Amino acid sequence: MKIFAHRGCSGQYPENTMLAFRKAIEAGASGIELDVQMSKDGELVVIHDERIDRTTDRVGYVKDMTYKELRNADAGSWFHPSFHNERIPHLEEVLDLLLEDQSGTVLNIELKNDVFDYPNLEEKAMRMAEEKNLAGRIVFSSFNKASVKRMKQLNKVFEIAWLFEGNMPDAALIAEQLGCSSIHCPAEFSLSEAGLEYMNNGGTLRVYTINDLALYQSLIHTKVSAVMTDFPDLLLRTIEE
Ligand code: G3P
Ligand code: MG
Repeated sequence: MKIFAHRGCSGQYPENTMLAFRKAIEAGASGIELDVQMSKDGELVVIHDERIDRTTDRVGYVKDMTYKELRNADAGSWFHPSFHNERIPHLEEVLDLLLEDQSGTVLNIELKNDVFDYPNLEEKAMRMAEEKNLAGRIVFSSFNKASVKRMKQLNKVFEIAWLFEGNMPDAALIAEQLGCSSIHCPAEFSLSEAGLEYMNNGGTLRVYTINDLALYQSLIHTKVSAVMTDFPDLLLRTIEE
């Protein structure tokens, strides 16, 4: 089972920053998950919330600020003053980090378009990944079913996963209707009858967000393809032990 660093090594470093992503690669995570929103001037920025209030020293909606304005925000101090140099990354910076990385780390790009359906977000993100020749190393996902459909129509090269919250007994059927062969879900679905059946039928399941060792151990012997965690170090140490 693979370990994906959720928003980077976000348990020890400020989430969705270049530092958190570099630390995930250093820790030996198989993959990194991140979240993408769009600035007022159409740039793809890596941040979880629609607003920048929680994870920066500024306030406002990402969609109402230009890329330059967003880059002025300190994206590290909220976590610890020593991280004051961290900025909201551009997606392209993370793709370049992936290109430098020789260990083959996979990147899960979660499009955050379930609150605001940013125009052409899918097209821009996929084009950027395609131009960098990163097929095979990127999995796109979204909670937004219409967006998942658009991604499937736009590009046949990248793996697209449908992402959902809670337990959803008919998830396999929905994924099939969307044309996805992978699902990103919470642990409760992966341990349910429907989840086990989905995996037995060859579906790829990645589970978020596993920070609890006992829960992680209950998944180790299942066919779950990967778990996303804020603490990749901790889970990787457990495997070694
Ligand atoms: O992509 C999996 C997970 O990150 C989805 O939830 O809110 O942490 O982005 P969230
Ligand atoms: Mg996410």
